[in-house]
Amino acid sequence: MMELWMLLLLLHLHLGNSPRIKDGEEVGSLNVSCVSLPAPLSVSISSFNMQHILSFLPGPGTPSDTHFTVEVVHLRKNSWRQVSGCLELLAEQTCNLTMVFKDPYDHYQARIKAFTSNQTSNWTLSGVFQPLSDTVLEPPDVTLSGCGNCLIVQLAVPARKLLQNLQLKELYKRVIFHVQRTRDGAQFTLNLPYNDKNEITYLQPGVEYCVTVSARGLFNSNYIPSKPYCAFTSPPSSKSSNALYVVFILLGVFCMLGFLFIGLVVYGSQLSSELITEHLPRSLLNTFIQGRQHRRAQLEFSGHFSASQLHGSANCLLMAHSPVQALKSSSEQGAGDCALALT
Ligand SMILES: *[C@@H]1O[C@H](CO)[C@@H](O)[C@H](O)[C@H]1NC(C)=O
Ligand SMILES: *[C@@H]1O[C@H](CO)[C@@H](O)[C@H](O)[C@H]1NC(C)=O
Ligand SMILES: *[C@@H]1O[C@H](CO)[C@@H](O)[C@H](O)[C@H]1NC(C)=O
Ligand SMILES: *[C@@H]1O[C@H](CO)[C@@H](O)[C@H](O)[C@H]1NC(C)=O
Repeated sequence: MMELWMLLLLLHLHLGNSPRIKDGEEVGSLNVSCVSLPAPLSVSISSFNMQHILSFLPGPGTPSDTHFTVEVVHLRKNSWRQVSGCLELLAEQTCNLTMVFKDPYDHYQARIKAFTSNQTSNWTLSGVFQPLSDTVLEPPDVTLSGCGNCLIVQLAVPARKLLQNLQLKELYKRVIFHVQRTRDGAQFTLNLPYNDKNEITYLQPGVEYCVTVSARGLFNSNYIPSKPYCAFTSPPSSKSSNALYVVFILLGVFCMLGFLFIGLVVYGSQLSSELITEHLPRSLLNTFIQGRQHRRAQLEFSGHFSASQLHGSANCLLMAHSPVQALKSSSEQGAGDCALALT
């Protein structure tokens, strides 16, 4: 009896509530069992020349049979919708959002989740994306030429048609010139409104500079520089070689002056030593002879030694150490006394 009652009860329960329980179980199993896959990582939208690509990495431990699905939202409209080309991506695939983000001025966001037949992951959101400000523009084509103490930079829009009826030229708003002097790497940066022809002034003539150019959109802070383009401000051959000649000539003149000076010094020292060894004794001899003659004349003239003469000879003995005063005294007093005193 008891078993029968239980059976009836179970039957009743099953029959009465089965649809709802079944629903509940399905919903419950979906919720509980499904959100067990790891969510995708590193979800980002990269954009070059207004082509937008979403990339991601599977979360760690994601099964190999996992697929990924992408949804996007207009932030203005705030309703998520699926992206037709990106419903069942594989782990290494990317999602091309170029045709999805139609309005270059609008703000968008994307999200992606992993799923298998009986499991899903949470959604992972990308950052907010605005096509016009987040895209990276290709740098313009550059032609560089010198103009004396300046450079002329001609810019040309790459011959490429963008999507959504946009032209690259319409997107170029500002141009950044990075100028570097080849010789020593001295550099500066110019940020100018976009123009086909640009002049970079106040440069050194006859010197090589290298210029890299990058273009930016209106609200755009992302850019990639062009390769460096190099040119001389003016033909280097004449001026720099002239300068080189001048340097060589100056060097030559300095060398000659140096040799001349050294020669003079050497010759001068030889001359002075000769003077000391040869000329000085002879001149001393001369003064001695002259002195004797002078004294004899004095003796003949005065006939006696004066007190002043004795004083003079004493002076000369002292003055032998200081020749200037000795000369003075010898001119005043008898030169012969000096000569005697020296010898
Ligand atoms: C289960 O999923 C339903 C919709 O599928 C949702 O309304 C509900 O909140 C989820 N429950 C839990 C616990 O996440
Ligand atoms: C999914 O997100 C909820 C909270 O939003 C979190 O509790 C849960 O752990 C996440 N599941 C996985 C698999 O990361
Ligand atoms: C993305 O889609 C655009 C438009 O269909 C196409 O021109 C472009 O080549 C695609 N880019 C990639 C990387 O598939
Ligand atoms: C999901 O299905 C696979 C077989 O397809 C099974 O091995 C796995 O245990 C299932 N996981 C859950 C949570 O039901």
